Amino acid sequence: MIILAFESSCDETAAAVVELDEERGVRRILSSLVASQVAIHALYGGVVPEIASRAHTEAISNLAEGALQQAGITVEQVDCVGVTAHPGLIGALLVGVNFAKAYAYANRKPLVAVDHILGHVAAAYLCHPKLKPPFFAMVTSGGHTSLLSFSDYTKVETVGRTRDDAVGECFDKVARTMGLPYPGGAEMDRLATLGDPKAIKFPLAAIRDDTLDFSFSGLKTAVINHLNTCRQKGEEIRREDLAASFTKAVTDSVVTRLHEAKDRYGFDKFVLAGGVCANSHLRKAVMEFGKKRGVAIYFPDLALCGDNAAMIGAQAYYEARAGHFADFSLNPSATHRGV
Ligand code: KG4
Ligand code: ZN
Repeated sequence: MIILAFESSCDETAAAVVELDEERGVRRILSSLVASQVAIHALYGGVVPEIASRAHTEAISNLAEGALQQAGITVEQVDCVGVTAHPGLIGALLVGVNFAKAYAYANRKPLVAVDHILGHVAAAYLCHPKLKPPFFAMVTSGGHTSLLSFSDYTKVETVGRTRDDAVGECFDKVARTMGLPYPGGAEMDRLATLGDPKAIKFPLAAIRDDTLDFSFSGLKTAVINHLNTCRQKGEEIRREDLAASFTKAVTDSVVTRLHEAKDRYGFDKFVLAGGVCANSHLRKAVMEFGKKRGVAIYFPDLALCGDNAAMIGAQAYYEARAGHFADFSLNPSATHRGV
């Protein structure tokens, strides 16, 4: 099946063509285009929703054309149109959903609504041809932090989530307080490599109760308070040590939850996905967890960790296979649906 997919849930407009066929063992990306708005939002230190919607509106038609061209196919060869329908910024989602609806309607193609979080995990199918459910997964991104149990490609239970800030949001807010440009995750990663992770002790984001939930806002506040106190006292702040100590608190929080989840659910495959999965320290800590507990670890390639439409196309394939088609009354939702 050849899928033309669209993603517009936050600040990347993306279109891609993917081909998947479980029977023939085919999972390939024919084209994947991403128009990033990061440079625009960096001026404001974060994503401005209305600007994001307008930038999606400008970019999406050309991306659709470009994705078909790069894939070397015509619209007649497309079997189905996939689009991110939830969760995300509502104005941003409306652009992608309405464009995909119009495109599917005009070209008489079936339409599939995709959950962005499941899309992030589906990026791993494109990079690991043999990966199949059941498995456990965690999506760590700018907007989401979810621990998920997959019994099938479209059958998913959320077993843990953040109760406030997402992990990427926490990286970005701490980075901003340190004076780093938005989004600060990648620069924090680099700085942390140069610092001492034991220099400052920060609290874990793993909530101490019987859930597998997280609270990243407490950790964020602790780091910001530490920074402000140092500034007030005129003490020198080693940014590398701060980045390393903060990153250690994040990775320890995730790994703590993974051990607890393994004890409770006993999984043997784990997928880490989402923008923050690009973090080298988090990848290393999760690999070590896998080695210790006999769990096979899967990451998407770095290029597929952040928002893209290839991952949406991959999930759209499995939704279509399960008979989950949308009709033309499809309406996006800012919050999670069915996960
Ligand atoms: O998945 P994504 O592109 O968008 C959402 O769905 O939210 O994730 C973007 C997030 C940003 O918060 C960014 O700072 C973070 O991923 N990020 C990183 C790294 N690279 C990107 N965070 C930590 N370390 C990195 N290397
Ligand atoms: Zn995302």
